[in-house]
Amino acid sequence: MMAEIIDGKAMAQRLLEETATAVEKMRVEHGRTPGLAVVLVGSDPASEVYVGRKIAQCRKAGIRSIEHRLPATVSQAELLALIDELNADSEVHGILIQLPLPDHVDAGLVLDRISPAKDVDGFHPVNVGRLSTGTGGLVPCTPLGIMVLLDSVIDDYRGLNVVVIGKSNIVGKPVSMLLLEREATVTVTHIETRDLPDVARKADIIVAAAGAPHLVRGYWVKPGAVVIDVGITRVRDHDGKTRIVGDCATHELDHARAVTPVPGGVGPMTIACLLSNTVKAAGTADP
Ligand code: GUN
Repeated sequence: MMAEIIDGKAMAQRLLEETATAVEKMRVEHGRTPGLAVVLVGSDPASEVYVGRKIAQCRKAGIRSIEHRLPATVSQAELLALIDELNADSEVHGILIQLPLPDHVDAGLVLDRISPAKDVDGFHPVNVGRLSTGTGGLVPCTPLGIMVLLDSVIDDYRGLNVVVIGKSNIVGKPVSMLLLEREATVTVTHIETRDLPDVARKADIIVAAAGAPHLVRGYWVKPGAVVIDVGITRVRDHDGKTRIVGDCATHELDHARAVTPVPGGVGPMTIACLLSNTVKAAGTADP
C-alpha cells in the first residue's frame, strides 16, 4: 500500500483562489485593497527567489505589493526608519522583512519594530505571546500551512501523539503551539534529543522541520502515521544538477498513512498563508 500524498500545491491553489475572492469582496464592499510591503536586504539568491514568488502570487490574488530593495550595506537605523514609515502608511497592511538579514543588523530589533497588527510573518513577540496563550493574533505562515495540510487528513487531534523535529521560532515552536491548542500530546525534539528514532516511532503525526536531508527514515515511522516534511535543502547530485530534498526519506514511507511531498507540499502553502494573513491584517486595520 502506498501512503496518500497530500497535494500541497493543489491545496495552496485553492487557498489562493479563496484569498483572491476575499480581496475582491473587500475592494467592492469597503473600497480597500490589501497591501503587502516586502523588504529585501542584499541579494541572497534564495531570498530573491522567495521574494519573487511572494510578489508574483500577490499580483495574482489582487493584493498590492510594495517592494523595497535595500543594499546589504544598509544601516540598522535606515532599516528601522523604513519600518516606521511602513507602520504609519495606511495603504500597507502587512510588512514582510525577508530573512536572513546581514550580520551587522540585529534581526530581533528589526522584527520587534514592525507593528504587531502588520506582522504577517507572526514573528513579533506580541504575536508569539498571543499564539502561546491561544488569544488570536497573526500566526506564522508555515505552521498555518501545516495545519491546513494536516486538517485534510485528521479530524480530531485530541490525544494524538505528535513529534515535532526541530525547535525553530519559525516552524517548530509555533506549530507545537497550534497542535497543543487542538489538544494533541506534543513532543518537541531537537539536535540534542536522545534516541530520536524511538521517540518518533511513537508518533501518530511527525512534523519534520530540522533542515536535515532524509533524516527521518522508514523505521522511524509507525505504520499509519501522518508525516509532514518541512525540509527544503538544495543538494547537488552526482551529475552536478541540483535538486530540492526534504527531511524525510519519503521512498521508505509506504507504510505511512499520508505524507507531504518535497517540493509541492508545505512550501506552496507558506506563500498562500502569507497572502491570507495579509488579507486578515487588512480586514482588521482601522478604516
Ligand atoms: N526566510 C525564510 N523563511 C522565511 C519566512 O517565513 N519569512 C521571512 N520573512 N523570511 C524567511
